[in-house]
Amino acid sequence: MGTYRVMPVTTSDYRRLSEKRLPRFLFDYIDGGAGDEFSLAANVEDFRKFRLRQRVLVDVDHVDTSAHIGGRAASMPVALAPIGLAGMFGRRGEVLGARAAARAGIPFTLSTVGVCTIGEVQAGAGETAWFQLYMLRDRGIVQALLEHARSDGCDTLIFTVDLPVAGARHRDFRNGMVGGGLRAGLARAWQLMTRPRWVFDVGLRGKPHSFGNLNVVLGKSGGLDDLLEFVNSQFDPTVTWDDIAWLRKQWGGRLLIKGIMSEEDARAAVDAGADGVVVSNHGGRQLEGVASSISRLPSVAAAVGEQVEVLVDGGIRSGTDVVKALALGANGVLIGRPWVWAMSARGEDGLADLLAVFQREISITMALMGVTKIADITPQLLES
Ligand code: FNR
Repeated sequence: MGTYRVMPVTTSDYRRLSEKRLPRFLFDYIDGGAGDEFSLAANVEDFRKFRLRQRVLVDVDHVDTSAHIGGRAASMPVALAPIGLAGMFGRRGEVLGARAAARAGIPFTLSTVGVCTIGEVQAGAGETAWFQLYMLRDRGIVQALLEHARSDGCDTLIFTVDLPVAGARHRDFRNGMVGGGLRAGLARAWQLMTRPRWVFDVGLRGKPHSFGNLNVVLGKSGGLDDLLEFVNSQFDPTVTWDDIAWLRKQWGGRLLIKGIMSEEDARAAVDAGADGVVVSNHGGRQLEGVASSISRLPSVAAAVGEQVEVLVDGGIRSGTDVVKALALGANGVLIGRPWVWAMSARGEDGLADLLAVFQREISITMALMGVTKIADITPQLLES
């Protein structure tokens, strides 16, 4: 294991290993959040507030973690969240993520700002991916991206609504990840010098580094730097629920709205024709000071859970957290940082191993609570 003396097993093991592998600006881009990172911390800490009920002497010989998530069957109610630039954290990182997800029997979501194209990801994994979309000012590009996703066989669209503007992520300025100029360039160059293995494996052998899907629809062959400015200028702060109604007409497949934190917005999403919502504060990367997503889940689930699918993300680091989220009203969860930490640390195998650990922990937790089916995980399994 080289610099890691024992086998990494948990999410935090992989986080530590990822920190050793990645240049600082990339590690911090993943690890960090907005402002003073209180909402980011709350996402993780609030899971600790909930206590599970232990029940004994129930026959738990056959525990089944299989579930339906986003309209498809999965080995557990977990999907990989959309992560921009994943192809910078591992060589063709989105393909590695999708392959590990396929091995684990769960869905993979490709970000609008992923490095690999939908075609590359699906060919690599031999499976259909979900596609995540941001609204861009140029609706023609949005339509082209939807068409691109549809013609490549994507049936589930995650539409992210909590990024009318990018959050204030101070670490990214500190490290020269954004901001440009000579100082930022020097800061990055210095960080790269200390990570020769990444430079060779991802920086050189992982090319082309571009926003693959955007290149396809724009008919360009530009690199990341060319496209980054374009993308930033395209995030649309004028988007409203009317645009979601427009989107609903464009997209006949399954539509999940990601970035819902209130009952009102959840109801509006249902009214606009969404098939589900993802309770999410974007991993604490957008509105600093907002509540943790797990603390908002019960009210959102109470408001719309009878009508549509309710997923949650933010701070889920283990199988136990997954079970808590289900008990609090979620039909399933997305995991973000855990998958990129594992993938950047040990590639496809590392991520496949971590997903197996999640599944094993879900199964053990269920057995020790005396339940054998995902559908039996209800609020009664939490201590009040
Ligand atoms: C994200 N997230 C995100 N969301 C999205 O809709 N589109 C995107 O391109 C990205 N990109 C992205 C990059 C990185 C590095 C991170 C950490 C997160 C948010 C992501 O999908 C998810 O909501 C959170 O990561 C969930 O929180 P946890 O699991 O990371 O705590």
